[in-house]
Amino acid sequence: MRVAMLTGGGDCPGLNAVMRAVTRKGERAYGDQMVGLRDGWRGAVEGDLVELSVQSFRGTLPRGGTILGSSRTNPYKVDGGADAVKRTLADHDIDALIAIGGEDTLGVAARLTADGVPVVGVPKTIDNDLGATELTFGFDTAVQICVDAIDRLHTTAESHDRVMVVEVMGRHAGHIATWSAIAGGATMVLVPERTFDIDEVCRTIQRRHEGGRYASIIVVAEGAQPASGTLAVASGEVDAFGHARLGGIGDQLARAIEDRTGYETRAIVLGHVQRGGTPTAFDRVLATRFGIDAIDAVHDGDFGTMVALRAGEIVRVPLADATAELKLIDPSIYEVAEVFFG
Ligand code: F6P
Repeated sequence: MRVAMLTGGGDCPGLNAVMRAVTRKGERAYGDQMVGLRDGWRGAVEGDLVELSVQSFRGTLPRGGTILGSSRTNPYKVDGGADAVKRTLADHDIDALIAIGGEDTLGVAARLTADGVPVVGVPKTIDNDLGATELTFGFDTAVQICVDAIDRLHTTAESHDRVMVVEVMGRHAGHIATWSAIAGGATMVLVPERTFDIDEVCRTIQRRHEGGRYASIIVVAEGAQPASGTLAVASGEVDAFGHARLGGIGDQLARAIEDRTGYETRAIVLGHVQRGGTPTAFDRVLATRFGIDAIDAVHDGDFGTMVALRAGEIVRVPLADATAELKLIDPSIYEVAEVFFG
């Protein structure tokens, strides 16, 4: 078969590991020819592609990012975009497509499936907010990067009696924030799932300082929202999938904490550092397992499915289910973090 792959949306450590596994098994076990569509759906719409082989992936297992490039192009927002994707596949004799992405990329894959395109999905996002899979690769790496940063911030915060606000990614869900806060020993964590009360945040910090601890680490997810009317927050520009560009809550929060408590407060935005660099061993293994099952799904003719992790096993779920609902944090994990607030 001729099998195309693309990586869409925000990049994520482990993308190369998925494609390396797809290519290895495709080429060696099935005799496939692999093709890469450049920059996510943009390459599919514009017919921008490259022939791939096992050789193309030499040395990429530990490498972050994606050698194919990525974009947030939405074919359904481009005039004739879906037809252009079908034309690209037909013009290049492509029998199947493996789309590696998050809710947006897989949402497009689900719509194309309904339009008769043979697609298999692979879930990807450092945010870990895809409903149908217990974990996405990239999440473990992102959490480890945040925890490394928090560990370092503790010592400088203690030396200067400062409050440090650490802004981490997490547009709709606080998985990265909550795990980082628990593993990093944070004073408090603010997540998109629960609006926060700035006065309560300040009271918690004050209680802690009155108890003799003069340094605090507050972890805030970029998508965290103050309770209505309690703190003004700016909104950013919107992409082709209608998502606002986030980032900035950390600064606003730090200013509000300093104004209200008088404690010197600094904001650290970890931003894209969380998405860059080498994947952890766990993410390399998960990405590799997803890649192997994705090419198996192609040869089983299991189109319209997404590979997923459930109870430690790789399973296949309908693509439509994969994007139906976002996975928010389990209240019980937030309650674990809460035990250590203050
Ligand atoms: O979806 C993953 C993610 O890293 C979000 O946490 C974040 O809001 C977004 O991507 C940032 O995307 P971009 O790099 O396109 O600004």
